[in-house]
Amino acid sequence: MKKYKIAIFASGGGSNALKIIERLDGFPLAEANLLITNKADAGAIEHAKNHNIPYRIFSRKEFLEHPEVILYSLREHEIDIIVLAGFLLKVPESIVTVYSDRIVNIHPALLPDFGGKGMYGDYVHQAVLDDKRPESGITIHLVNNHYDEGHILFQAKTPIKEGETVETLRGKIQKLEHKWYPEIIIFLVNELNKQAGEN
Ligand code: GRF
Repeated sequence: MKKYKIAIFASGGGSNALKIIERLDGFPLAEANLLITNKADAGAIEHAKNHNIPYRIFSRKEFLEHPEVILYSLREHEIDIIVLAGFLLKVPESIVTVYSDRIVNIHPALLPDFGGKGMYGDYVHQAVLDDKRPESGITIHLVNNHYDEGHILFQAKTPIKEGETVETLRGKIQKLEHKWYPEIIIFLVNELNKQAGEN
């Protein structure tokens, strides 16, 4: 039985990375094999260390100008799927091409609204509140060469209440992310496995 190897890309606190690592622990079809980050102080590094997952730190310059170095590392670890969990750099085209339909991202709003360059973290929540939307949510999608425009796999919503602030909205969105991102990754692996069985 094939075990799919997953690389997690994370630049920040890594709370989603941790939930994914924990969910994959004991799942027979996939495992987290590598953490890639562009920040030496990314919280996700601690989570990787605690779970004996190797990690690599690449500079922004390496990412953007020498993606072959990242591809080399992905090949070295025989990575099948890339999971972006708060990764702030655009994934270079050469990596998207090699991993076509095998890169997944989470966005803290209901795409196609409130996506694109510069739309991350609290900027997203602030924009949703400024626009007086009745709801926000999360979007889990495949990655293509345009920011936040890949095929949508899943969305979950939460209503925006009277007096909602960036802080309260951030908390609600994070809860949705932690609940759903690991499950959608499991779903994706199961789908890939089914397709591989059919071919
Ligand atoms: C999440 O809100 C996710 O939607 C976005 O980056 C954030 C990462 O948070 N892409 P964490 O580092 O996993 O805590």
